[in-house]
Amino acid sequence: MKPDLQLIVSQAEAEFESAKSLHDLDNAKSLFLGKNGKLASLFQRLKSLESAEKKIFGHELNLAKQSIENALFKCRKQILDNNIRKKLESQSIDISLPGRGANKGSIHPLTQSLRRIQEIFYGMGFEIAEGPEIETDWFNFTALNNPKDHPARSMQDTFYVEHKDEFGQNLLLRTHTSPVQVRYSIEHKPPIRVISPGKTYRVDSDSTHSPMFHQIEGLWLDPNINFSNLKGVYVNFLKEFFESSKLTVRFRPSYFPFTEPSAEIDLKFSEGPMEGKWLEVAGAGMVHPNVIKNFGLNSKKIRGFAFGMGLERLTMLKYGVKDLRLFFDNDLRFLGQFRC
Ligand code: DAH
Repeated sequence: MKPDLQLIVSQAEAEFESAKSLHDLDNAKSLFLGKNGKLASLFQRLKSLESAEKKIFGHELNLAKQSIENALFKCRKQILDNNIRKKLESQSIDISLPGRGANKGSIHPLTQSLRRIQEIFYGMGFEIAEGPEIETDWFNFTALNNPKDHPARSMQDTFYVEHKDEFGQNLLLRTHTSPVQVRYSIEHKPPIRVISPGKTYRVDSDSTHSPMFHQIEGLWLDPNINFSNLKGVYVNFLKEFFESSKLTVRFRPSYFPFTEPSAEIDLKFSEGPMEGKWLEVAGAGMVHPNVIKNFGLNSKKIRGFAFGMGLERLTMLKYGVKDLRLFFDNDLRFLGQFRC
């Protein structure tokens, strides 16, 4: 008996249409198109037919298979579309919300300041030198004319490292960048013109001090250098850094073991939020003859000036930041204000 292919196709269509999910549909599919499904057994039957009959029935069978596959495709699409529609209906999107956007990173304000400082000194012919953060007692203090038990050492209380170096020297986290003066001058011949930026450490922590902070040291060694050169270089630097010619600079006598004479450099703005106040920005002076000797140089022939300043302090003054700790909290609401 010849099977009613039309009936099988409409049965398949009905099964597919009643499927509620892809899972139902797959079950229905195997009933008709699977290995043991209705069509498979009919294809089996082809084998036993005579060739003329085989050709006709084979053709009809293929047409029926095609129709079933089309019906399956249509129903699968319907189920998928339905799923998406249901999902969209169940999720409400508030189109009035602002987009999230991609956050752009920015350069940390201290790095911005440092880059600017380096640029300015580079423009005045200075090179950049670096030194280690774990320093020996000798480089950090003794070579800078600050011998053991000298009271000036207590101005810079620091963190000592438990181990000593291979020569039995005490090691410590450097309290200033001044030791780089010594390291650089031992290795290079004058004239020397360097700045050395880097991390420094002291036992200090409040709104204007942090146990780790940054300094920038400056050194110019030359047979003819004098105090006016120091003034010229430093005042020029301040005007460029603060982008203002309306500042007054004062060199106030002070004491540092490694300079003689020594000065503290103060600054007064005649405009802006800091107007009228004197603010200390750096220590400086003519390099002490004992220190020049420790550089391995003849202190009768070579002279020089040096200065040291705090990067955080300069940046706070430039941007009116009141609390130094903000630089290290890394709160994006703060950092985002320095995007450039
Ligand atoms: N090293 C000093 C400090 O940390 C700053 C300083 C003062 C550096 C005078 C100098 C200088 O080179 O000449 O307090």
